[in-house]
Order: sequence, then C-alpha cells, then structure tokens
Amino acid sequence: MSETANGKVALVTGAGSGIGRACALTLAQHGYRVVLAGRRQAALDAVAQEAQALRGDALAVACDVTDAESVAALFDTIRARFGRLDVLFNNAGRNGSPVDLDEVSIDEWRSIVDTNLNGVFLCTRAAFGLMKTQNPRGGRIINNGSISAHAPRPNSAAYTATKHAITGLTKAVSLDGRKYDIVCGQIDIGNAATEMAARMARGVPQANGEIAVEPLMDVQHVADAVLQMANLPLSANVQFMTIMASKMPFVGRG
Ligand SMILES: NC(=O)c1ccc[n+]([C@@H]2O[C@H](COP(=O)([O-])OP(=O)(O)OC[C@H]3O[C@@H](n4cnc5c(N)ncnc54)[C@H](OP(=O)(O)O)[C@@H]3O)[C@@H](O)[C@H]2O)c1
Repeated sequence: MSETANGKVALVTGAGSGIGRACALTLAQHGYRVVLAGRRQAALDAVAQEAQALRGDALAVACDVTDAESVAALFDTIRARFGRLDVLFNNAGRNGSPVDLDEVSIDEWRSIVDTNLNGVFLCTRAAFGLMKTQNPRGGRIINNGSISAHAPRPNSAAYTATKHAITGLTKAVSLDGRKYDIVCGQIDIGNAATEMAARMARGVPQANGEIAVEPLMDVQHVADAVLQMANLPLSANVQFMTIMASKMPFVGRG
C-alpha cells in the first residue's frame, strides 16, 4: 500500500478515458484502491500504469456495463480481491448522432439507454448488494449526470432522456440506501475537455439554430470535485453538484 492509502476501495466505470480516467487517477493518488472498468482492456491497463507511476493502487477489469453477466463478473472480482466496495462512480456513458428525432435509429436509442441508464442500474444493483452486507456497512454511489439532466441540447433525445432518468435513480438510491448507510449523489458536468466534448470547441448547434463555439474546462476540476464527494464521511452527502465551464450557455440557454 502507498503511504497515502486510506483503505477505501473505489470502482470507476469508463475509467479508460476522459472524466473516468482523471477521476480514477485522482482517487488513486489520494489513497483509494481503484478498480478501473470499461470495455477496452488496453486503455484500462494504460491508466493502471499511470496510477502505479503515481504510487497509486489500480486494478483494470474489462467490463461492458450493458451486459449483466459482465457486471456480475466485475463484482465477483471486487468481492474476491477486496471483500468490499466503498465508492462506485457510475461514469461510463455515450451520446448519439445529432439527427432529427424521427431519424434516431432504434438500435442507437436502445444502446444509449443500455449504456447510460441500464448500465448504471446494473452496477448500482450489484454495489448496493455488496455495500449493505459488508462490514463496516455502507458506501457511496456517485452518478455522472450532465447538464443534459437539466436541459437538452438540440437533437439529443436519447442522451437527455437517460440523463434525466439518472436524476430519478439518484434520488431513489438515496432514499432506499438510507437504512443501509448507502448514500448516493450526482455530479452534473458541463463541458469538461474530453474526447466526448471536443466538438464544443469546433462549434455546436444552439437552441436558436446558430452554431457556437463553447468554452471547455479542464477535466481535473471534475476529478477534484468527485474526490471531494468521495472523501465525505457517510454521515454527509453532496446530493447534487453542477460543475461547468463558467461561460457555457446553460444558464440562459435558449
Ligand atoms: N465531457 C463532458 O463535458 C461531459 C458532460 C456531461 C456529462 N458527461 C458524462 O461523463 C461521462 C464520461 O464522459 P467523457 O466525457 O469522459 O467521455 P469518454 O472519454 O468518451 O468516456 C466514456 C467512457 O465510457 C466508457 N464506456 C462506454 N460504453 C461503455 C460500456 N458499455 N461499458 C463500459 N464502459 C463503457 C468508455 O470506455 P470503453 O469504450 O473502453 O468501454 C469511455 O471510457 C459520460 O457519462 C458522459 O455522459 C461528460
């Protein structure tokens, strides 16, 4: 264990890139034993190496969050290796093609719902079962929502619907977890500089039909916020946090 080890185990889904990578590295740097999950083993291995170079503790486990068996295997590994889970960051997600609603393919709609909503449910379900029976009991679940959990961008029905649904899941998990010392919060991010958000810098459609370049913020600000949420004792919880590039068109969007 590194000198900063706090003994806590954190699972980050979608840890091979972007926000998940930054959060996993920051948690590892601050003493968490971090489990990195995502579909691409090579990307996870690269992040695990980076964590180890920072004297952090990271285990890379390939997992497709849309696949119930794959999620069950991930949690079997966590149970066998660590016997507990203190923090789950439900971060894996995808967006869709920016097309008129009638042109959204049914396969794409299902894939977005599977990743952004069903995947979060499958990981939450497994974490809930482990957290309520482990000793010491309880744990923290942090869901990655979005500004799109509040307001849509043009041509984003599937993404927006799933991110709004996450808000309901966050509230339900907070309520149902209360008697087991399981707490749940949500971070709603706006324009963190990752591959997914790179198009903001090139210009994206606005509600009035114009195309506008939008400001981005450093992804490390998100990682620092997630660390702050994770570090709280279970007697306290950030229920919802919105962190965004200050000048992005959200407040006043439209
Ligand atoms: N960047 C922003 O400004 C912003 C704003 C609001 C919300 N968010 C949310 O932040 C999260 C991360 O986004 P990002 O910006 O960091 O983009 P990203 O770099 O594209 O990250 C998405 C991650 O999700 C993983 N993933 C996708 N499908 C998966 C599946 N079926 N099973 C397991 N992992 C899967 C991907 O890894 P594999 O391909 O290896 O599976 C990838 O590492 C998403 O939920 C997104 O909606 C981002």
